[in-house]
Amino acid sequence: MNTQTTTTATVTRIDTFKNQSVKNIILIASGKGGVGKTWFSITLAHALAALKKKVLIFDGDLGLANIDIQLGLSPDYDLGDVIEGEIDFKGAISHYKEGRFDILPGRSGSARLSDLSPTRLALVREELKSVAKDYDWVLIDLGAGIGGIVKSLTPASGKCLLIVNDEPTSITDAYAFLKLTRRSHPHLPVEILINQAENDPQGHRTYEGFAYVCEKFLNYKPELAGVIHRDAHIKDAIRHQVALSIRHPNSTALRDVEKIVKKSFK
Ligand SMILES: Nc1ncnc2c1ncn2[C@@H]1O[C@H](COP(=O)(O)OP(=O)(O)OP(=O)(O)O)[C@@H](O)[C@H]1O
Ligand SMILES: [Mg+2]
Repeated sequence: MNTQTTTTATVTRIDTFKNQSVKNIILIASGKGGVGKTWFSITLAHALAALKKKVLIFDGDLGLANIDIQLGLSPDYDLGDVIEGEIDFKGAISHYKEGRFDILPGRSGSARLSDLSPTRLALVREELKSVAKDYDWVLIDLGAGIGGIVKSLTPASGKCLLIVNDEPTSITDAYAFLKLTRRSHPHLPVEILINQAENDPQGHRTYEGFAYVCEKFLNYKPELAGVIHRDAHIKDAIRHQVALSIRHPNSTALRDVEKIVKKSFK
């Protein structure tokens, strides 16, 4: 078989499977950037691992990867090495001992990673689906908005947690994200996570306002995954490049994440 035929066969096989989602792959998404996806993914992984679940975080913010930076790690390999053919997908996964979970890091500042072709993205998706069989949960820390990687990984996922705070830009962009995602993947469950809430009532009000608009205009009311309070310990943990669960094990935000685990990760 020549190369052209092989590539065509691979793409055809990928296309055949592309609509098969894997229940334990969870997208951590937002419309607007900087709303808390990365620290939440890390803290969620930690909370699940504490319950003896086997967890992998995949850094899906290709080209602007942050997981290893927030944890102060210098992994031997990352997704860039996989793309360059240096190592296979599984070989690029490293174990984060303190958190008892695995990480497949991205590579910050890699133009090549941020600009992967649809075929390459589809191959990454299929590798991830295959690796997901070895885990209880695979968490994908996405970049903001709806880029190629988000479009490519969405069909593989069992659920999307959409993070929103009470700023109008965050709400508007989250609505746009949900609208476009519902259009392309009407069966993907989306749950809303209200972050940086001043208090519980304010968090619930933000959710109700958002859910009302979604129900009215999209005919879909996303469930509430939970409310996370504004907590200065998060910034402190990120600045010190240590997971919140380790640096501030008694923090309010960690308790909030544990509640989300109980509700949404049964
Ligand atoms: N609940 C919270 N309380 C206080 N500060 C928070 C909270 N959530 C997020 N932040 C602040 O928001 C910043 C951004 O968090 P993070 O890097 O996790 O967001 P992100 O959505 O992954 O960003 P990006 O879209 O750039 O990848 C943090 O550095 C932290 O200071
Ligand atoms: Mg991030």
